[in-house]
Amino acid sequence: MHCAVEMLGIVKRFPGVVANDHIDFRVLPGEVHALLGENGAGKSTLMQILAGLYRPDAGKILLSGRPAQIHTPRDAIQAGVGMVYQHFMLVRRHTVLENVILGLRRYGLFLDYRRAGREIERNSREYGLEIDPAATVWDLSVGEQQRVEIVKMLLRQVKVLILDEPTAVLTPRETEGLFATIRTLAGRGAAIVFISHKLREVMAVSDRITILRRGENAGTIRREETGERDLARRMVGREVIEEIEREEPAAGEEVLSIRDLRAFDNRRLPALRGLNLEVRRGEILGMAGISGNGQKELEEVLTGLREPARGSITLGGREIAGRRPDEIIAGGLGCVPEDRQGTGTAPGLGYRDNIILKSCRRPPIRRGLRLDYRAADRQADRLRREYDIKVPSLSAPVRLLSGGNLQKVILARELSARPRFLLAVHPTRGLDIGAATYVRKRLGELKRQGAAILLISEDLDELAGLSDRIAVIYEGKITGILPARDADRERLSLLMTGQKAENGIMETS
Ligand SMILES: Nc1ncnc2c1ncn2[C@@H]1O[C@H](COP(=O)(O)OP(=O)(O)OP(=O)(O)O)[C@@H](O)[C@H]1O
Ligand SMILES: [Mg+2]
Repeated sequence: MHCAVEMLGIVKRFPGVVANDHIDFRVLPGEVHALLGENGAGKSTLMQILAGLYRPDAGKILLSGRPAQIHTPRDAIQAGVGMVYQHFMLVRRHTVLENVILGLRRYGLFLDYRRAGREIERNSREYGLEIDPAATVWDLSVGEQQRVEIVKMLLRQVKVLILDEPTAVLTPRETEGLFATIRTLAGRGAAIVFISHKLREVMAVSDRITILRRGENAGTIRREETGERDLARRMVGREVIEEIEREEPAAGEEVLSIRDLRAFDNRRLPALRGLNLEVRRGEILGMAGISGNGQKELEEVLTGLREPARGSITLGGREIAGRRPDEIIAGGLGCVPEDRQGTGTAPGLGYRDNIILKSCRRPPIRRGLRLDYRAADRQADRLRREYDIKVPSLSAPVRLLSGGNLQKVILARELSARPRFLLAVHPTRGLDIGAATYVRKRLGELKRQGAAILLISEDLDELAGLSDRIAVIYEGKITGILPARDADRERLSLLMTGQKAENGIMETS
């Protein structure tokens, strides 16, 4: 079970960027080692080298003091190194069970389906990661997919476990469960690398912390020697944590109104069961809930990707239920979807083309029947600077961007379009502290300009910090709406798990 990791002098260059610049990084058996750094600092790259996904341009890796030849993910697994990626690698058409077994069989383990199913259920129960072995991955939310990835690694009994922003997609309760898992594994001698932008979590779970800054190791410290503020400063090189004042909304008219909305999920089971909600001009309505309670289907129905079974949705007074996505967008919808790579961007297209995906239908970029590429370049360049998006060039395909930078591309595009109604699903997920603060500010601005914003998130801090009102979704219905200032964690957690609302909470439907 014990394996010390030493990465020495690691260099990795990509066209136009040095992602890892002579990095030394050591992880001890039995420790939880957090890897911190701004978006694009090189965290995922360094760990993908350890997991055999990339070959370094220079440097070497020692496992338990011996040089390791890790050229492929299979080499890594054989050496006991497993990674849960930031962008998942599940086969979407297969079931959870098939995905988990796929990995195991390849490495010479024989498992029959039924036993494997039981193993998955046992592991997921033991570690508080609920998954249904029979579900098709395609139908799962990002959060649910994450759980599958983790269970897959647990079943492989890795000695070195790398988790690239695992909690970005977990609920608070799941995060606690995961931390317990991490602790147990470390207690048994596993070496754990934990990447996260959430400093509170880093302080809660890690023994040591290494900070990367622009591809270099900016230092390794023990948890006792630091704190959230100090970490933020070390990451960015200056003071960063700042409080944002929430402005009270100027209770405007209804922009989005949802009445008795019903929809099925891909398995033809009811996912939305009579949902009622309205979002007003100039307000941010937060929607709290554990993923899998209808959020995904709501997003799809609101954006025209899923036909509702019943009910009405009006946007600016016009019925949009069952309309095509382009019609809804023309009616004033902006959307930061949960799935950044699937529906959020066109991964093969360049940065500029992703930025102008929507604005290319209007002047100044559209001129008659032609596109003005100079204007497009100007817009792309302006947003790149405003949002500090790290792209090597305007034409670089966005699939090569780091997680946080990809997220910024979507935000820049959607917020700059000045939507009348913005649906934002986990808008700051995966962003570093500086970027997250910036996005919160921009959302606040959009709200002041009169947009109605529906913020779907599982991050209670994010919800509490941004929303004016918080609605809780549970099993496809809104089970309570409360003013954000009354929304303490406990109350929300209760509602999110379907427990009875207490006094003072407005009950709906
Ligand atoms: N396959 C690739 N091709 C070209 N450039 C890449 C590739 N992978 C990463 N990069 C670049 O390398 C740099 C480091 O990326 P990396 O994904 O390691 O950052 P990160 O620290 O994980 O950031 P985040 O917090 O946003 O996930 C970024 O500038 C990124 O655009
Ligand atoms: Mg990353």
